[in-house]
Amino acid sequence: MMSAKDPTPSIDPFSLELDLEQGLLPEPENRIVRRASDMRGYYADEAALERLIAEAGDPIHYEVFEVPVPEEAGQLMYCISTLRPGRVGDECFMTKGHYHTVAETAEIYLCLRGEGYMLMKTSAGRCAWERMARGRMVYVPPCWAHRSANTSDGEPLVSFCVYPAHAGHNYGDIQCEGFPRRILKRGGEVVFAGSASPGPAVTS
Ligand code: 6PG
Ligand code: NI
Repeated sequence: MMSAKDPTPSIDPFSLELDLEQGLLPEPENRIVRRASDMRGYYADEAALERLIAEAGDPIHYEVFEVPVPEEAGQLMYCISTLRPGRVGDECFMTKGHYHTVAETAEIYLCLRGEGYMLMKTSAGRCAWERMARGRMVYVPPCWAHRSANTSDGEPLVSFCVYPAHAGHNYGDIQCEGFPRRILKRGGEVVFAGSASPGPAVTS
């Protein structure tokens, strides 16, 4: 961990330019891609997901672009997350969702483009959601798992995210627990449906 007295801080100051219109991070070092096939076990309608994988060429679900900073306490990790529009059955495309491994770490999402919701839950079963739209910021407090869902009909949901660099990602608990709600679109309306089961356990 750094201290203010550390004579050799691990990185130098830097700046960069974001494309706020397109929601792009120029020259990202890391590009994490999640395709439909990476989402097995997450959606209620497994057959619809398999059709999407087979018939639509396993389309990209979302991408995360980052220029990482050292994963140490005191640093702030930041990235751009781009979630494509689409449905699996009537469930909106969504991210896997996670707690942070260091659970007591918060996160800020500033939405740059699109429309959707941030779905959040605690391990004690509390559930909340906040609307995402260009210019809206969502504050995810410590200990809340978070998943975003794209409710638009054709636009990507793009956010700039900032969180403590040592936070880490805990996907396993969400794979087991799921979220208490699923975000659907029916007849043009967004529906927050109760979710009886998280779906089968997945391994990745
Ligand atoms: C994070 C952020 C965010 C998130 C992406 C993809 O902690 O890194 O919450 O960048 O990783 O939106 O979502 P999943 O990590 O849940 O797949
Ligand atoms: Ni996070």
